[in-house]
Amino acid sequence: MKKYLVIGNPIEHSLSPLIHNYWMKKYKLIDSIYEKRKVEEKDLKDVIKEIRDDEIAGVNVTVPFKKRIIPFLDELDFTAKETESVNTIYKVKKKIIGCNTDSSGFFQTIINFIPGEASMNSKHVFILGAGGVTSSIIYPLHKRGLKITVSNRTRKRTEELKKKFPKIEVLDWGQRPLVFDIVINTTSVGLTKSDKIDINFDNCKKNKKILFYDLIYNPKETNFLKEARLRGNKTVNGQMMFLNQAICAFNLWTNIKPTIDKETLKLLSND
Ligand code: ATR
Repeated sequence: MKKYLVIGNPIEHSLSPLIHNYWMKKYKLIDSIYEKRKVEEKDLKDVIKEIRDDEIAGVNVTVPFKKRIIPFLDELDFTAKETESVNTIYKVKKKIIGCNTDSSGFFQTIINFIPGEASMNSKHVFILGAGGVTSSIIYPLHKRGLKITVSNRTRKRTEELKKKFPKIEVLDWGQRPLVFDIVINTTSVGLTKSDKIDINFDNCKKNKKILFYDLIYNPKETNFLKEARLRGNKTVNGQMMFLNQAICAFNLWTNIKPTIDKETLKLLSND
């Protein structure tokens, strides 16, 4: 039996087992199973030992361990190094490798909303938050020369990001650039349906070109996205990023690249 895991804390909300088990069945990997496990920081070492001992074939890492898992790994892929964030782990030739598939999962999604890669670096992206996932969002945009402004409730964390990504501009929480093309919510504000981000975007009214992107996919429409939709802006939630990062992880583990079929989308909408 090949066992895969997603580890995190909390973990109840994770839809990864639903998706990966469906793909394992679809692609007839009948000896594979994917489970979720709630862990504490002190358990990380033991999880890695289970991979070393071939008791676990692969692991997804979610909040709050994407950075904290790094000291236990033997090697990191390029993106994991650049972002200091690991969401996928597997073993190759006795080495435990940490990968970041969040970043490409995000970029594959956003690229559909930025017509013409050539004109990409003229875009201005306003990023809310400086938490665990934010470096995976900034990395592919920073690399391509987009103008990036970041604002986080705790200023110290944006200053840390600036050390890694020197070209970003930092604003205090509550402030916003006058104009921008895309705003991305990477905070956890919105996970609870009544949550609201207290930043005024009224002057974006009826500008269909401005994209409001929330990494949250459950609930499907946060207040951040609902208000944007009512203003007439473009909106997108975190569902495609979630699926794209899962496809990359599944591909690393099995060499199979799952396609997103109706059943996959149904599994997410049933939740
Ligand atoms: P995770 O690793 O789970 O993403 P995190 O690293 O603590 O968790 O990131 C959560 C993000 O949501 C942070 O940017 C956090 O801001 P702080 O750095 O100030 O904690 C942001 N966040 C959470 N609750 C918030 C709130 N009520 N208002 C504004 N930002 C909030």
